[in-house]
Amino acid sequence: MENAFGEPQSIVVLGGKSDIGLAIARKLMSPSTRSVVLACRRPDEATTQVASLSRDGVAVRAVAFDGADTDSHRGFVTSVCSEFGDPDVVILAFGQLGDQTRFDDDPTEAVKVAHVNYTGAVSIALEFASRLRAQGHGRLVVLSSVAGERVRKGNFVYGSTKAGLDGFAQGLSDSLEGSGASVLIVRPGFVHSAMTTGMKAAPFATTPDVVADATVKGLKAGRRIVWAPGILRWVFMTLRHLPGPIWRRLPLG
Ligand SMILES: NC(=O)c1ccc[n+]([C@@H]2O[C@H](COP(=O)([O-])OP(=O)(O)OC[C@H]3O[C@@H](n4cnc5c(N)ncnc54)[C@H](OP(=O)(O)O)[C@@H]3O)[C@@H](O)[C@H]2O)c1
Repeated sequence: MENAFGEPQSIVVLGGKSDIGLAIARKLMSPSTRSVVLACRRPDEATTQVASLSRDGVAVRAVAFDGADTDSHRGFVTSVCSEFGDPDVVILAFGQLGDQTRFDDDPTEAVKVAHVNYTGAVSIALEFASRLRAQGHGRLVVLSSVAGERVRKGNFVYGSTKAGLDGFAQGLSDSLEGSGASVLIVRPGFVHSAMTTGMKAAPFATTPDVVADATVKGLKAGRRIVWAPGILRWVFMTLRHLPGPIWRRLPLG
């Protein structure tokens, strides 16, 4: 359970090798932290990530998790909770960007990414939400994206998965009202991470640490949505209302 300062004892990162997820976990860790679970597809390849969070008195463990394997999600939540206790903060950080030109050529690739980013996220979020509701406390942090705020032609499959996930998370947040559990939706812009390696940075590009700072501040303040960097809230307030002919001409890729 979180202490009086809102510091979690137990943290679960879904997509345990995610640069953003790890940065958030690192910033959330305090002397109160007892366990950090890094849930990833190949836990044997997460030794660097486990070592980077290791502290005296904290059990940092990499465990097997596949966001696409929705049939396994209920068993996964049961097993993590029985081994590490009630989760205080669950960070939903897994996701795939993919390549729009590849999706155009091979829609089966688009379906795989849509399944991970949306269906898989919905499945595991609902499983954890049910657990948090039952325990009467806990936060679910959902990594959305500005890419879903107004979907652009250059990555409309990825953008649409984030638009769907963001809408889902807003509704889930409303449904948890009064339960003691809550959702924090995080909407980063372009973040320098493994996901964007080799790509040209977008305006207002930022780092996992900046996203983590905004997330931890948002959790402490009991916010429902945070943007990272914060200016993107105002930028997208304008962009989402631009007429289509202007939006389509913007050099956004
Ligand atoms: N980077 C950005 O510009 C940006 C901007 C806005 C939002 N976001 C979102 O923020 C989240 C974290 O992204 P990041 O920048 O930290 O990227 P990242 O370092 O590439 O992390 C994404 C993680 O998702 C994992 N993953 C992919 N498919 C999975 C599956 N089926 N099951 C379990 N894990 C899976 C990957 O694990 P493997 O190691 O197994 O591949 C990877 O560790 C994502 O949801 C992303 O969409 C990113």
